[in-house]
Amino acid sequence: MISKKITELLNRQVSLESESSNVYLAMASWCEVKGYGGIAAFLYHHSDEERMHMLKLVHFINDRGGHALVPAIGKVKHEYKSANEIFESIYSHEKKVTGEINNLVDQCLKEKDYTTHNFLQWYVSEQIEEESLARTLIDKLNMIGNDKSGMYLFDKECQQMSMAGGGAKK
Ligand code: FEO
Repeated sequence: MISKKITELLNRQVSLESESSNVYLAMASWCEVKGYGGIAAFLYHHSDEERMHMLKLVHFINDRGGHALVPAIGKVKHEYKSANEIFESIYSHEKKVTGEINNLVDQCLKEKDYTTHNFLQWYVSEQIEEESLARTLIDKLNMIGNDKSGMYLFDKECQQMSMAGGGAKK
């Protein structure tokens, strides 16, 4: 059985993962409309992964005697200036998610809840990959600058990453 406090924090994480899924979906849609088919495919895939992250938490909470609460869909940003803005904003969103996971891990240690602590280790490694991937893509975009053929290749690379499973592990 998980404590009230841990259940609250896990439900907060459910909400964050759901928000990530929606935000990445809106970004994918913007990219598709702007002709970045490869980046769109990558982001649609990423959005599905975030929903999977959310569901994993939902099942864990319910399996441990808590009650997973499905969050309301909040406002989503629909317009972006560039692919750079999208990846910068993914990076800062993922850093926020990492911070919340770390808070949860802290609380598990305080309460000696080693089962939840163990479950969260998957998220800890996932966040390392997600932040690192976002940083790599930002570095590439910065190198490309305003070079249209570079951007064309970047889009193709994103397409390949989405076909290979999204760039990150899961
Ligand atoms: Fe599920 Fe991108 O954190």
